[in-house]
Amino acid sequence: MDLITTHANADFDALASMVAARKLYPGARLVLPGSQERAVREFMSLSEDLAKIEYERDVSLESVSRLIIVETRLAGRIGRMAQLVGKKGLEVHIYDHHPRTAEDIKAEKDVYKKTGATTTILAELIKKQEIKITPLEATIMALGIYEDTGSLTFPTTTMLDIDMVSYLVSEGADLNLVASYLKRELSDKELKLLAQLIQSTEIHIINSIHVAIAAATSEEYVEDLSLLAHKLEEAENYNVSFVMVQTKDKVQFIARSNLPFVDVAKIAGVFGGGGHHSAAGAVIKDMNLSEVRERLIDYLHSHIRPDIKAKDLISAKLPEAGPDEPVRRVRDKIAASGTEYAVIRERGSIAGIAAIKDLEKAISRGFGHSRIKGYMSGKIFPVKADTSVYAIQDIIYEKGVGCVPVFEGAKLLGAVTRSDLLRAFHARLFEEPRGKTSGRLYTLNLTSKIKRSFPKKMAELLKFIGRTADDMGFSAFAVGGFVRDLLLGVENLDIDIVIEGNAIEFAKRLAKELCGCYVHHKRFGTATVFFGGKFKIDVAMTRTEIYERPAALPTVKFGPIENDLFRRDFTINAMAFKLSRHGFGELLDPFKGRRDLKEGRIRALHDLSFVDDPTRIFRAVRFEQRFDFRIEPHTEDLIKKAVGLKMVDRTQKQRIREEMIAILSEEKPLKAVRRLAELNELRFVAPALKLTRPAAGLFDSVDEVLAWYDAVRLKRRHVLNRWLIYLGALLDGLDTAEVQKICDEFVFMKADCAKLMSYKRSADKALLFLSRKEKLRPSQIYDCLEGLSVEVLLLMMAKSGFQTARRRIMDYLTKYADIKLSVRGDDLTKKGIRPGPHFRQALKKTLHAKLDLKIKTKAEELDFAMRHFKS
Ligand code: CTP
Repeated sequence: MDLITTHANADFDALASMVAARKLYPGARLVLPGSQERAVREFMSLSEDLAKIEYERDVSLESVSRLIIVETRLAGRIGRMAQLVGKKGLEVHIYDHHPRTAEDIKAEKDVYKKTGATTTILAELIKKQEIKITPLEATIMALGIYEDTGSLTFPTTTMLDIDMVSYLVSEGADLNLVASYLKRELSDKELKLLAQLIQSTEIHIINSIHVAIAAATSEEYVEDLSLLAHKLEEAENYNVSFVMVQTKDKVQFIARSNLPFVDVAKIAGVFGGGGHHSAAGAVIKDMNLSEVRERLIDYLHSHIRPDIKAKDLISAKLPEAGPDEPVRRVRDKIAASGTEYAVIRERGSIAGIAAIKDLEKAISRGFGHSRIKGYMSGKIFPVKADTSVYAIQDIIYEKGVGCVPVFEGAKLLGAVTRSDLLRAFHARLFEEPRGKTSGRLYTLNLTSKIKRSFPKKMAELLKFIGRTADDMGFSAFAVGGFVRDLLLGVENLDIDIVIEGNAIEFAKRLAKELCGCYVHHKRFGTATVFFGGKFKIDVAMTRTEIYERPAALPTVKFGPIENDLFRRDFTINAMAFKLSRHGFGELLDPFKGRRDLKEGRIRALHDLSFVDDPTRIFRAVRFEQRFDFRIEPHTEDLIKKAVGLKMVDRTQKQRIREEMIAILSEEKPLKAVRRLAELNELRFVAPALKLTRPAAGLFDSVDEVLAWYDAVRLKRRHVLNRWLIYLGALLDGLDTAEVQKICDEFVFMKADCAKLMSYKRSADKALLFLSRKEKLRPSQIYDCLEGLSVEVLLLMMAKSGFQTARRRIMDYLTKYADIKLSVRGDDLTKKGIRPGPHFRQALKKTLHAKLDLKIKTKAEELDFAMRHFKS
């Protein structure tokens, strides 16, 4: 018996190919594996003639002597019929328009033709053999061709497809019927899914190619996902697109490409699927959506790329030196060679690499005569001449080295440095209009994310900033925390802009355009634009920072955006996106910050980061705790080293103060303080400072007290310095003199120092008084707490173990503190009282009487005060 089958989830091309094959193998049984696409099922239920199609579950395979497979040649796609493959004496014939692959079923006859639809191949054979077909058969076959060629519009369409449609029409194919099945409306569910796909679409720029990736989840298997993929592609006109939908236990995957060098059949093959160069798909069982996405992106990175090798990147031969040569001489050799590194050789082999940056530092500290041995890095990661640029990029960024030596066999050809890498991407991969090179490793376009995340006005403002810069011949980028938070989906309206060009001129122009004003700091090339009464934008020139001495403030020079990103603290803060008209929204992420954001990692950009700027040891903890990330092990080692070297002591104390304030301003900062203690960083605030158990308990109580304060919504809201309350908690174990020393050393604002000191001086005594069991009059409570700031009062509440004392402070804050006298000094002078010290005394007594509810009205107040004078 002959049995004709096709792939599971049959579409019209599969169904039509089976019907056509039966014309070539008369008497064969048609058997469908698995389920079918919705439209196919509907069509079958309406067409009685097709009742001759059977389902795999109803058919015994025993007597099959010839298996005819159409529209696929993969065993994994033909359901139960796969059991027949390899059966002794069984003949297999295949008709398929998918290119052959190594995984194909071995067949006695395998007919392949590069056509838009498999039906076309079979229709041509029918035509050649002059086999008669019915109008219904012609209609089904036309449906097959129309569907797989997008009504003859897909780039995969061939002349033969068109010829065969013409032949089928001449055989009576009903094009109205064809059209009614092809142009089916999307169901509600499909529309929702399409919206999900459009919303989720990310444009990745992988090795300079724009790739759209859309992902969604669906409760059930999506029968006609290729239609949705087609709609998405049609709507946005992507060159390369991937659509993936997670259902309960599978990921459906559809891939499309219009580019000759992006073969999506190969890409689908990675996931066990297949298809054509330009259209392919897979059903993936053992991975979830994010695993598929990750695998896909990794694969694309390593497979679609221009071919640049290590040997093409070497810009100059590195100078060489012996391990005992003095630092200064090696520095001079490097400077003379025009590079940034030297190779240190010891008895023929490479012992280390010295960077001019490190040598300059050593010289400035008086170590110019020391042997280079102590100042080189032993971390060497040699590569071969034909190592790809991407592999080198991974080494340089992941191992945190500035350069890698390149070998051809045993011969050292030179080295590829970080700058060579940037230059490579600069010159080769990208071209920008106006003859300007951009060379940036843009990896993703954030336009749709920007649209989704910000109010319309904000997105327009960003575009306006870009256009204004364009018009001045500059390039503008959004940068730093603003970009990080956009990617994280955390609200942040503090726009940080960097300008490749004159930032101050730009700020001036922007302020004018926005009818605002600006202030600038010439030395740093930064400015702030204020507009609309309450908005501000920080603008800076893209800069290269040179740290003359470790821990000193850097000298600033103009440089390209890549250098600006390289001077930053952590990978997650070293991303920018373009604001210019051309390429708006393109993310520049040379240090894989986005990956670290996804994986929750705080990673320094290079080994000297904490030496250059020790305040970063506090920032690392702040970001780690804020986002619930983890400082990655190498960065943690670098922090520990910087702590050990007491680098922080060389930094201006005010900068540490600002970092401490920032940490203590975070929500529930105890976690971060714990981590500071763990990394031994609290010693930089005060050598004796420890996070004791009572202090940690006090932090928790402050959280509670602040929650209460937020909930009571006092009428006269005080702008609270929350950080100050937590700082008071942290310093609670220190004595008054130690706290005074911290206030002086870190130059806290006078008002803040006064609050800390008043807590130190008054809190214990006041709490003792307020904890008394006996009844206290409101005036007594008022007298005890008057003059203390809200921060100090809240800290006292947190500190007190006694509910009575807490209650009394709450009463003070919510009732007594706001009580004022209606009677004024003038009222007393009008009564003939001469002003003097007794005046204040009288008013105070009157206030006490009012607090204690002995008097109420203004007349009573005046009467009370006058009686006080008389007595
Ligand atoms: N930066 C740095 N090193 C520092 C301080 C800042 O590299 N010591 C860079 C980072 O790129 C950072 C940007 O400057 O993203 C802006 O700094 P800042 O406003 O302090 O931090 P944000 O990242 O915006 O974080 P936050 O959300 O706390 O404001």
